[in-house]
Amino acid sequence: MCGIVGYAGARPALEIVLDGLRRLEYRGYDSAGVAIVCDGELQTEKKAGKLANLEKLLAERAAATDGDSGLGIGDGPTGIGHTRWATHGGPTDRNAHPHQASDGDVAVIHNGIIENFAKLRGELEDAGVQFRSDTDTECAAHLLAAALTELRAAGEENSPQLLAKAMQQVCLRLEGAFTLLAVDAAIPGAVVGARRNSPLVVGRGQGENYLASDVAAFIEHTREAVELGQDQIVLITADTIEITDFDGQPASGTDFHVDWDASAAEKGGYDWFMLKEIEEQPQAIADTLLGRLTENGQIMLDEVRISDEDLRDVDKIFIVACGTAYHSGMVAKYAIEHWTRIPCEVELASEFRYRDPVLDRSTLVVVISQSGETMDTLMALRHAKEQKARVLAVCNTNGSTIPRESDAVLYTHGGPEIAVASTKAFLTQLVACYLIGLHLAQVRGIKYADEVAAVVAQLHQVPEKLRELLGRIEPVRELARELKSAPTVLFIGRHVGYPVALEGALKLKELAYMHAEGFAAGELKHGPIALIDEGTPVICIVPSAAGRSMLHDKVVSNIQEVRARGARTIVIAEEGDRAVEPYADHLIYVPRTPTLLAPLVTTVPLQVLAAEIAAARGHDVDQPRNLAKSVTVE
Ligand code: M6R
Repeated sequence: MCGIVGYAGARPALEIVLDGLRRLEYRGYDSAGVAIVCDGELQTEKKAGKLANLEKLLAERAAATDGDSGLGIGDGPTGIGHTRWATHGGPTDRNAHPHQASDGDVAVIHNGIIENFAKLRGELEDAGVQFRSDTDTECAAHLLAAALTELRAAGEENSPQLLAKAMQQVCLRLEGAFTLLAVDAAIPGAVVGARRNSPLVVGRGQGENYLASDVAAFIEHTREAVELGQDQIVLITADTIEITDFDGQPASGTDFHVDWDASAAEKGGYDWFMLKEIEEQPQAIADTLLGRLTENGQIMLDEVRISDEDLRDVDKIFIVACGTAYHSGMVAKYAIEHWTRIPCEVELASEFRYRDPVLDRSTLVVVISQSGETMDTLMALRHAKEQKARVLAVCNTNGSTIPRESDAVLYTHGGPEIAVASTKAFLTQLVACYLIGLHLAQVRGIKYADEVAAVVAQLHQVPEKLRELLGRIEPVRELARELKSAPTVLFIGRHVGYPVALEGALKLKELAYMHAEGFAAGELKHGPIALIDEGTPVICIVPSAAGRSMLHDKVVSNIQEVRARGARTIVIAEEGDRAVEPYADHLIYVPRTPTLLAPLVTTVPLQVLAAEIAAARGHDVDQPRNLAKSVTVE
């Protein structure tokens, strides 16, 4: 939800921290702040709004004070920085992180929610502490300063380990989800971090080390990273990385190498990350498919800690996810049930555990998450495991919590997705779900190797089809300019086209801030058709006529129904489908693709449409208002 960066090394920390924040801004952009330890002093600056506001403030300070770093505050080699998505307390200057204790020596930044903050705040206020913000984070700053004072009073010397010890004491008092980073002016050269149910990774450099919510923050400097476990404290200096648990017992993380480089997290000439990520989809699909089919025709997942015998015993599947990932799960249901004949339900993660779902050892729960940190999905996963169900994760982020806690993982190899709106994550999640369906069918003896290979071959053709589609997408851009003032846009589809309709509407809502709704095309006449007025744009996703002509014909009838009531129809159909031509005010042809796989192509024009309408309306396409890339609170 928030982006966090820490640096300990020999170079000026401020520029490195700001650079890391630029790469993490997708995680939250309500306010930003930094704290640098410089010559035994703590220098902080923070500002509401996007990071650019903080940078402007720093530049003004530099002009006024001739700051050493040229950025308004000193050039000390230790620092922390934060970019916020507000939870406790509005997005104001005073609620921006870092937060400091009264002595001004300690600075703390935080991602997550401290659930017992009201109790802690009450206790601290009773002890005479004056709060300067409305945040839960400030409690941690006061508690850390108090722990340091007590330890020093007990005779402990200032050292990096003292900072870690104090942080351990603080963590034992906190409930909820948190990543915390802290520095202390009296302990220069050290940054301490702590995590519970919230992301934190370590970057291992040469004579410098990093802490961050996500490897993107330090990828320019090092690709060697350490994944921390749950409830761990990490202390970095320029030359050391020490990990303990909350009781101070030595612990270890898991080393990993990041297999993409800094350019993957840059715009590369595009106006928006989202447009770049849309164009990257053919490659992302190809990468996700790479090496999935062995020479003897077996589908390979990544980490599998579920035996084939257990997979054969699965009698029910739940797919659980949020937002766009949930829509990919809705598509997956059609393929998985068709290929495996196992009953499959799709649930919103935020609803799943509260309705007491019936789960047992023979239930397979598939959780889908690009970030691997979405709290609703993580809590659903834990609920499933408590009920003894097996959990299989589809995830794009190595080292994140969701795959780590799952029994099996299929990683999508989409590379970093920076734009808040999911694009390549969606398509690669679809590919992953198809592979899971095929794998289950294979393990259970329902599909022969040649049948599996035939579907995989169809999947391998998709990247080329998408390149061709993206090469002739200009008319969709023109259409976007025509639709930018529409008061409402409706999307209809049947079968796998229904989740595509929902996804198209979600994209338009989140990027263009327009009213948009997706409907099952057959459901329209049961109520929503009343929304249609003269000129209402209705985007219709038409299934292939090949093999399922009844399905195709039903959607064509639905198009006629809305058109008869004045709708302006924008039809997405496969090349050569002449039956839709008389009813389409605007026709977008997509390459021919088997029905179950069709969302891999029909979604793409909707992504382009939403991004272009948002841009035409003057919105920030990558960072829509009120949102953040990964939602690490429930
Ligand atoms: O990281 P996750 O895949 O778990 O995120 C789930 C949703 O928050 C996410 O897909 C969201 O709906 C997208 N921003 C929509 O474009």
